[in-house]
Amino acid sequence: MQNTTAPLTTIAEIGQHEGQPITLRCWLYNLRSSGKLLFPTFRDGTGTIQGIVPKAAVSEHVFDTLKSLTLESSLTVYGRVRADSRAPSGFELDVDDLTLTQRIPDSTPYPIQLKEAGVDFLMEHRHLWLRTPRQSAILRVRATIQRAAAEYFDTHGFFRTDPPILTPNACEGTSELFEMDYFDDDKAYLTQSGQLYIEATAMALGKVYSFGPTFRAEKSKTRRHLTEFWMIEPEVTYLDLDGLMDLAESFLTHIVTRVLQSHRADLKLIGKDVSKLEAVITSTDPGDGSQSPHSGFPRLTYDEAHAMLLDAHARGLLPAAHTYGDDFGSPDETYISSQFSKPVMVHRYPAAVKAFYMQPDPLDPTKALCVDVLAPEGYGEIIGGSQRVDDYDLLKSRIESHNLPLAAFQWYLDLRQFGSVPHSGFGMGIERCVAWICGLEHVRETIPFPRTLNRIYP
Ligand code: 4AD
Ligand code: MG
Repeated sequence: MQNTTAPLTTIAEIGQHEGQPITLRCWLYNLRSSGKLLFPTFRDGTGTIQGIVPKAAVSEHVFDTLKSLTLESSLTVYGRVRADSRAPSGFELDVDDLTLTQRIPDSTPYPIQLKEAGVDFLMEHRHLWLRTPRQSAILRVRATIQRAAAEYFDTHGFFRTDPPILTPNACEGTSELFEMDYFDDDKAYLTQSGQLYIEATAMALGKVYSFGPTFRAEKSKTRRHLTEFWMIEPEVTYLDLDGLMDLAESFLTHIVTRVLQSHRADLKLIGKDVSKLEAVITSTDPGDGSQSPHSGFPRLTYDEAHAMLLDAHARGLLPAAHTYGDDFGSPDETYISSQFSKPVMVHRYPAAVKAFYMQPDPLDPTKALCVDVLAPEGYGEIIGGSQRVDDYDLLKSRIESHNLPLAAFQWYLDLRQFGSVPHSGFGMGIERCVAWICGLEHVRETIPFPRTLNRIYP
């Protein structure tokens, strides 16, 4: 019998109602039948659960409705929760009754059937693909990563300040700018990073962060690049490179901790080996005072990383020898990060391959006081940051030598004229972080609607 007073719950919380009647608002994800027994799988956005429907236990109407129900039809189900150790969630649902919200007609079946579909087809149907359990789980983990990232700064004395999205100046190199034709006299671009603006808000507030969409007119098709992605960026006054590396380590540790606290089932569904994440947050400090409190993530200079790559090439582990002075390519980053179980911080790259705003190392001015954090398991760079040039004349000559328009940067130079102080910051791309934490092959699955070189639909 329909029990409309049964409490409304979600699949994620269904365990709290073991042995009790419940109401579930859901979709039919899958349906198996064997004679007088139906096994529908329901999904509600928080997870999936299998229902059991013996013909003898329900009305004829319920049995017949469910038996011919089309996948992804929406319905409300009334049933009783039963613990079952074989079920992935630990529970099954004995269905008593149901009401349909929308039955998808047989003439227009749901486009994504459960058999394997190609990536191009799935990307064209991204608006529907999102409903499948694995894609939903990735989005749930993404939401937690975003929340944990903001929470870290919100609880460590940072103020969130929002930089503009339309900007007159390039931040990360002019070749990847999206240009807009709108303002009469000035060129305008979609922002590549909020950094330059949060340097200004940091001078006002001390410790700040920004969190928003950023754009790169990437001409390359890689597993790691999107044209539109979300970046979270802290900027801190009176902070040097060492302090910045401490901050990045503490920040990433917090994110991984939060994901492990609430997404073990999702990670299992996605296929991630959680022991790899546990290793990231496990302290390697022997506890005898011999290590600094921030010695958990390995820190390598560019020179040390270069030597490691040459050695790997000599041993036949890398096809190409790394050229000293060049940036690291994807295979190089993959090799370096695969040598460690924790994220690796590579610092002090040659200034020539890095951005104009990076402070030179006083001990070797050909190097920049910068850091790239490479995620474990070959995921490559997830964080890029640096100490910033704080001297007016040096910054001005950098802007000129990079052929950047001085007028558009005058406000940025002002920050070095009026009470300049040493300061540092970094940016983390949320999608790179999600790809690493979930163990995904390609960043296109890390964001609801990816934008790449050749994709704008849906
Ligand atoms: O290393 P990037 O270019 O650094 C900056 O933009 C600095 N202004 C940040 C700062 O210091 N405040 O980008 C930072 C991070 C990268 O480490 C990567 O995680 C991500 O942003 N990223 C991308 N993610 C997806 N697709 C792309 N095309 C990306 N480009 C950068
Ligand atoms: Mg970078």
